[in-house]
Amino acid sequence: MYRILKAEKLAEKIYLMDIEAPRVAKSCQPGEFVIVKIDERGERIPLTICDFNREMGTVTIVFQIVGASTERMAGLKAGDGFQDFVGPLGQPSDFVKEDFEKVKGRRYLFVAGGVGTAPVYPQVKWMKAHGIQADVIVGAKTKELLILEEEMRAEAGELYITTDDGSYGRKGMVTEVIRDLVENQKKQYDICVAIGPMIMMKFVCLLTKELGLPTIVSMNPIMVDGTGMCGACRLSVGEEVKFACVDGPEFDGHLVDFDQAMKRQQIYRTEEGRAMLRMREGETHHGGCGNCD
Ligand code: NAD
Ligand code: FES
Repeated sequence: MYRILKAEKLAEKIYLMDIEAPRVAKSCQPGEFVIVKIDERGERIPLTICDFNREMGTVTIVFQIVGASTERMAGLKAGDGFQDFVGPLGQPSDFVKEDFEKVKGRRYLFVAGGVGTAPVYPQVKWMKAHGIQADVIVGAKTKELLILEEEMRAEAGELYITTDDGSYGRKGMVTEVIRDLVENQKKQYDICVAIGPMIMMKFVCLLTKELGLPTIVSMNPIMVDGTGMCGACRLSVGEEVKFACVDGPEFDGHLVDFDQAMKRQQIYRTEEGRAMLRMREGETHHGGCGNCD
């Protein structure tokens, strides 16, 4: 069993947990994810890692209640545990693998939307730990739904907070802040990393294409089992078919077909829809598990 050491409600329907998982904590990197399962009956839930402490052997996850399994997870307390806590999975963020001299020379802009603030946090923390000051925009619907503000402030260069209703920070969506920073304040960035709801990542990418700013996105929202076998996270990146859980979750946002990914996500929800996708996509439907029939 993987013991929960801390369980905290961050905002309405959003929870944070520190899990005792020394093997995952020892090797995980920003951008990677874990799969958690409460017990035999529980669904497998892929969650991008929010933080880790190698000395303490802990991994921090943040999740939002979106269905029965996450509702059950929200009911767990410190001292309870998960039957499975598998990871790290997926590919780490590009900057972890790239030549550090190149990474160091870039000006990074991180854009975090809602619960997507959690996976942005370890990336910004990595930047600071490596001497890089990265600017961060955090967007939330309201002040009450803003998470990890102080934690992010401690790691970011400049932190810009915006709420859709103007109840805290600036008023408006993250895209308005990006435009303001680049066009009015003449801030210069070499790369943008945008993580949040699909619709946010789509509109950030439309804007950054216009601004000529390369952008990385995380396609975690379309993952279901996180193993390359269910076919849920299939997406088109440029001319290529990719699977978010195996090849990602991070991709070049300017090459991702968001409209197709969002439409496919809807179709995948029903058995009838999955059957149609299996028929249309044939051998490229999933990572080749052979379970479809
Ligand atoms: P939300 O709907 O509250 O949106 C957060 C912010 O995104 C908004 O405040 C706004 O600034 C921006 N945004 C939303 N729509 C936009 C648009 N059309 N144009 C420009 N900006 C826009 O976010 P939420 O409810 O916390 O998000 C939940 C979603 O985030 C879930 O679908 C979940 O799957 C996803 N998520 C994604 C990741 C990831 O790795 N990409 C990680 C965690 C959660
Ligand atoms: Fe199932 Fe990627 S989440 S194939």
